[in-house]
Amino acid sequence: MKFTKIKDKDTSLSVFEKLPFQPKRIYYMQGMDYFDVRGKHQHKKNRQVLICVKGDCVITVKSIDKHIEQNDYIILEPSDWHIMKNFSDDCILLVLASEEYDKNDYIR
Ligand code: TYD
Repeated sequence: MKFTKIKDKDTSLSVFEKLPFQPKRIYYMQGMDYFDVRGKHQHKKNRQVLICVKGDCVITVKSIDKHIEQNDYIILEPSDWHIMKNFSDDCILLVLASEEYDKNDYIR
């Protein structure tokens, strides 16, 4: 995967390309509190790219904490047990998913 930031005067364009899979689903979350803990699961088939669009948070993947801020991304394989936490008030976390939503794909 490749990230490029294109700057033009006061604006910027963040480009993510060479995605590791063709997304079938895109969603984003916002409005989380610092002490909210999201995720707490792995998947059977679904692959994901998490992209921090705004603010910052911590993603724990297999017990390792990774602090991400704007334009940082993390690729999650289905077996990567993960949690999302320590959200800044303005955090927006975008998720690209390789599969359509299926509650039976979750392993909690
Ligand atoms: P969940 O994936 O458990 O959120 P998180 O991992 O961020 O804590 O989803 C939260 C709720 O939203 C749950 O009731 C399922 C629902 N949901 C959908 O209906 N479609 C989706 O694509 C997603 C991601 C969640």
